[in-house]
Formats: sequence, C-alpha cells, structure tokens
Amino acid sequence: VKDGFDSFMDKEIHDQPKAVADTLLGRTDATGALVLDELRIPESTLRSIDKIIVIACGTAAYSGHVAKYAIEHWCRIPVEVELAHEFRYRDPILTARTLVVAISQSGETMDTLMAVRHAREQGASVLAIVNTNGSTIPRESDAVLYTHAGPEVAVASTKAFLAQITACYLLGLYLAQLRGTKFADELREILHELQALPDKIQHVLDGEAAVREVAQAMKDEPSFLFLGRHVGYPVALEGALKLKEIAYIHAEGFAAGELKHGPIALVDEGQPVFVIAPSPRGRDQLHHKVVSNIQEVRARGARTLVIAEEGDEAVAPYADIVFRVPQTPTLLSPLVAVVPLQIFASELAKAKGLDVDQPRNLAKSVTVE
Ligand code: M6R
Repeated sequence: VKDGFDSFMDKEIHDQPKAVADTLLGRTDATGALVLDELRIPESTLRSIDKIIVIACGTAAYSGHVAKYAIEHWCRIPVEVELAHEFRYRDPILTARTLVVAISQSGETMDTLMAVRHAREQGASVLAIVNTNGSTIPRESDAVLYTHAGPEVAVASTKAFLAQITACYLLGLYLAQLRGTKFADELREILHELQALPDKIQHVLDGEAAVREVAQAMKDEPSFLFLGRHVGYPVALEGALKLKEIAYIHAEGFAAGELKHGPIALVDEGQPVFVIAPSPRGRDQLHHKVVSNIQEVRARGARTLVIAEEGDEAVAPYADIVFRVPQTPTLLSPLVAVVPLQIFASELAKAKGLDVDQPRNLAKSVTVE
C-alpha cells in the first residue's frame, strides 16, 4: 500500500502531482472555460455574493488563507478565513449573500461540521471543499466541490492540502468567470499556468535528496522559525505545523512583516529560520521586502534556509541553504513552495526514529469538539 515508500506520508507527498492534476481534471469545457456543474448553488446566488467566509481547521485552514489572496485578487470579493471552532462560538455577520466555504479532508471534523450548521442556521449558503466522498460535511452543505487527492492515510496532511488549494483556485477562477471580474483570456492564462503545476511539483520531488540530507543533519535542533509574506505566510504556518506534528519540534510560523513587532527577539546565534521567498518576477515590492527580512535575521546570527525560485540570485548572499522551486506565478506558488517543507519534516521525523504516520496524541480526523 505504501508503494515502496517508508511511510504513508512519503507516499502521499509523492502522490501530489496526481492529486493536483486529478482535482483539475474534467473541470473545463472544450473552449477552456471552467465548468463546475457540481456547484448546485444557483448562478444568480453566486453572482450576488458579497462576502466569502472560509471555515476550517489546521492544515485545511491554511489552504483557506491561500484562497483569500487568490479570490480577493481575481474576484474582488472580500474573503475572511476563520478557524471553525472560533467561528462557531461567536456571532458572525451572515446574510443570504454570504458564501461560507467549509474546507475539510475528512469531511468529518466536528468543529467544522458544527460551524457549517451554525452558518446555515443563519441563512448563509455553504459550499464544502472535501476529499472524502459521502462524508458528513458535504451531506449537510448546500453544495460540494470534491478534491480528488485519493485517500489520505498519514495523520499529517500533505496531498489533501495541495488539492484543497487547487479547488480553491478553481472556485476563485469560476467566480471571476461568472462575475466577469477577469477577462476570458486572462482566466485562460491563469488556468494554463495552473495546469503546469503537477509537472512543477514533480520537479521539486525529483530534487528531494538535497532536502533530506539537510533534514538529517538538523535532527537535533530544538526549534525552527518559518517566515513568509503574502501567500508565503500560510506556507510558513504549514511548514511549522508539519514539524510540530510529526517531529515534535518547537516550530513557529510568522508573517515576515511581524518580525520587528516581536518575534525577532527569538533570533539568536544559530537559530534555524526557514524563509519562503516570493517570485522576484512579481510586480510589487514583495520579493525585495523578504530579502530584507532574510538579511535582518541573518545579521542576528540565524541560519537561513530559503525556499526560492530557480534563477533568483538575490537571495543567495544571505542564505545558508537554498531549496529551489520552479518559477511559478506568486498566487499559485504555495503548490510548489510547501513541498520541500513537507519533505523536510518527514525526513527529520524519520531521522529521530519517530512514527511519521501516527504521531503521538493526534488522530487523522478529529470527530469530537
Ligand atoms: O479532515 P480535516 O481536513 O477537516 O482536518 C483538519 C485538521 O484536523 C487537519 O488538517 C490537521 O491539522 C492535520 N493533522 C494537519 O496535518
């Protein structure tokens, strides 16, 4: 079942090109337009949405963070992302024009299910993005957009995360198409870029040996920090979560801009800091800002491990180690940037002799509140 891999997690990391490709499959027509027939929410309702609230937990919530950047940019609809267990116990402002998107691999997470009920009771439409067919969350939602990652066995979510992000992109592009917030040729261009992602993910996997070697050498480190901006921020949070979950190492993800508001005090001689560098080809100041952040932590003694695009030479002088990923438009880059972090966590846990698939104290799906 593990197809020759040491763990289900490793197998599932390697399943990712297929998980993304399968989630994209069959969702465009002959003209290249998106068709999401399964969204049984009337088009008129989707056109009138004035707010999206994503509810989810853990890794699934981080896919929602990525969705926020993409959907707001493509559709100009405000997107809030909230942990399901927080949403459930407050008094959210929902109307018939709010679309609630519940993201869950298992479809059985109790916190997310209770939040779905809470949203529907107040008149919002709920769209579930779920991996497990026939599970409870889609049954209790207005519509479902399935991710096609296949069964995920390891407690640490990997391929489901990439499939969730992919489904969120499809939703965003579909809403942009429906609402006319992007020109058809622009949408086609983004879709085309998205369709190139499975091969790019495979390319990162082909270079995994270098990541594994570094992970083995760092197995006794007591703590790691992860920094990112924009969509690199949820990638940083996810990288830290993977390391906590399976390697039991203290790891924290930060928005890189927060550094000087507190976290930089943690940086001391030798502190390993992962930094997710955005594409230098982006039109904004993002890349430049992140390079400054790398310099800031390096100047205080950090050992920097930088995830950067191929050809990005600006990071090299400040990086102790660079893990390269293929050139990818910023909004789509989490699909490649997170992969070295997954491999790193898996290898480090293995080097410590831990059970990668069944970490202590955790269950694959959390069916109690
Ligand atoms: O099945 P779900 O996607 O609803 O699960 C949500 C979280 O419990 C899950 O992503 C958890 O954080 C993972 N163990 C992360 O690797």
